[in-house]
Amino acid sequence: MAIQHPSFGTIDEKRVIVFDTTLRDGEQSPGFSMNLEEKLRMAEALADLGVDVMEAGFPIASQGDFESVQSIAQRFAKDGPVVCGLSRSAPGDILRAVEAVKPAARQRIHTFLSTSDLHMRVKLRMSREEVLEAIQKSVSLARNHVADVEWSAEDGSRTDPDFLCRCVETAIKAGATTINIPDTVGYAVPADMARIFAMLRERVPGADGVIFSTHNHDDLGLAVANTLAALDAGARQVEATINGIGERAGNASLEEVAMALRTRADVMPYSTNIVTTNILKTSRLLATITGFDVQPNKAIVGRNAFAHESGIHQDGVLKDKTTYEIMTPESVGWATNSLVLGKHSGRAAFRDKLASLGYTLGDNQLNDAFRRFKDIADRKKTVFDEDIVALVDDEVMRAQTRVKLVALTVATGMGTRPIASVSLEVDGEMCDGVAGGDGAVDATFNALQQVVPHKANLKLYAVQSVTGGTDAQARVTVRLEEEGKLVDGQGADTDTIIASARAYVHALNKLLAKRARTAPPEMMRTPA
Ligand code: KIV
Ligand code: ZN
Repeated sequence: MAIQHPSFGTIDEKRVIVFDTTLRDGEQSPGFSMNLEEKLRMAEALADLGVDVMEAGFPIASQGDFESVQSIAQRFAKDGPVVCGLSRSAPGDILRAVEAVKPAARQRIHTFLSTSDLHMRVKLRMSREEVLEAIQKSVSLARNHVADVEWSAEDGSRTDPDFLCRCVETAIKAGATTINIPDTVGYAVPADMARIFAMLRERVPGADGVIFSTHNHDDLGLAVANTLAALDAGARQVEATINGIGERAGNASLEEVAMALRTRADVMPYSTNIVTTNILKTSRLLATITGFDVQPNKAIVGRNAFAHESGIHQDGVLKDKTTYEIMTPESVGWATNSLVLGKHSGRAAFRDKLASLGYTLGDNQLNDAFRRFKDIADRKKTVFDEDIVALVDDEVMRAQTRVKLVALTVATGMGTRPIASVSLEVDGEMCDGVAGGDGAVDATFNALQQVVPHKANLKLYAVQSVTGGTDAQARVTVRLEEEGKLVDGQGADTDTIIASARAYVHALNKLLAKRARTAPPEMMRTPA
C-alpha cells in the first residue's frame, strides 16, 4: 500500500528510502572525524549519489557538530536530500537539532531513546513507563517544529517484543513518520530482523501509515544481511554508510545494499534513487578525506572486487564476462580502461577528464592541478584515472590552507645521516627549516616541525600505492594527535618523501584550524 510522507509525498510500496549516516554514525567512530569543509564535500558527493536522507550530524554534541549540520542544511536550502539532525529525547537536544536543520529545504529530526531492559536499567535508569512518557514528549516536541520526524528504539533488536510494540505505538501516536529499529550492538541475525518488522507491522496500530527503517551494525558481519531481511519483512528505509564505516565494526555498507538490490532485483524487487555509477567516486572521496582505504577485497569498491586472477576465471571472463561477473564494474563507476592522458595532453583534455571523473575546479585550482599533472606525466610512463583522482584530491585539500609546501630537498644515503631542508609558505611568508633524522621521512618531519613548532605526536604513518609499478604515486596518510584531538593528513606524489611531506603539512593545517577554533589568536603564531 502506498504511504503519504511529509518529505516524499506518495511513496510507492516498492520504493526504498536510502538514509545515509556517513556524516553521523560513520563520522563519530575513532579516526573518521572530518572538518567542516570535508563534511561539505562529502555532503555534495552524497547528494550526487542520490541518497534520500542525509544524517548530517548530532547538533547537541558540540558547537562544531552544530555548525556542520547547519552549513549542510544551508547548502541544501533550495533542493537536495532531506537534511537530518540527530537528537536524544531531552527538549534541549531536540531544539538544537531543529535550529541546525532549519535552513534546509527539507528537514528531519531523528530522536532516539533506548528501549531494551538492559539499557533502561543501567544506562537510563528509567522505568518502562518513564520511557514511554519520554517518547511521547520528545516526538511531540519534534513534530511541533518539523513535519518529518524519525524515532529510533536504541538497542531495539534486544528489546522485549511486547514493550517494543508499545514504544512504537506511542511514537506513532505522537506523530513520528518514520520508525527505526536499530540493531545497535550488531547482535541480531536476519531471522530476528524479519520477525521484529513483521511483528510491528502486524501488531502496532497505525503501522501502515509510517515508514519502517532498519539500522544495522556489523559486529557479526551481518549488517547487510540484516538490512535485506528487514526489507523483506516490510521495512522501506535503509540506514547505511559509505564503505560501511561506523561505530566499532561499522554500519551496513550503502554500496553493498544498493548493489544487492540492483543485482538481485529478481528476488528483491525494490527501487532506490542511488546513481550506482557514482558509488566508487564517493567511496574514494571518503577514503581520501579520512585516510582509511577500504580493504582490497571489499565488495563493490575494493581494488580486487572485479579483478580476476586465476587462469580459469580469466579465460571464462575473456569468453563471456557473465561467467564470473554478476555485475559490471562500470555499473559502480570503475572505468573499463583507466589509462588516460599523457604528457602531450592539453588543458582542455585534462578539464574534460576531470569532468568525467566528477570534478569541476575553478580556474586557479585547475591551473595548479594541470601543472602537477604535467609534472607527473613527465615522470610517469602512464597516467591512470586513479593518478588524476589522487592529484586533484590533493590539490583540493590544499586550497585555502595557511601552510604550503614550497620546496623539499633530502640528502640521504647508506652510512650518512639524512638531512632535510624544507621551504614553507606560512600565512604568505616564506620560512625555511633544516633538520636531520633517523631516515629521510624522519628528517623531513623534523624540518617541518622546526618551521611550524607543535607538540603533536605522530600516531600513524601509512603509505599506499595509488596504482601498480615502481613509478606509481604514493598516497601517504599521517595522523597527528594533540591534546586528545586527532587529525589526519593525506598527500600524494610519485616521490614517497614528497608525498609524506604533503601529508604532514596537510595534517598540520588541520591542527592549526582546530587550534584556531579553540584558542586565542597568539597561540596560532608560527616562529619568525
Ligand atoms: O546504532 C544506533 O542505535 C544508533 C541510533 C542513534 C539510531 O545509531
Ligand atoms: Zn548506529
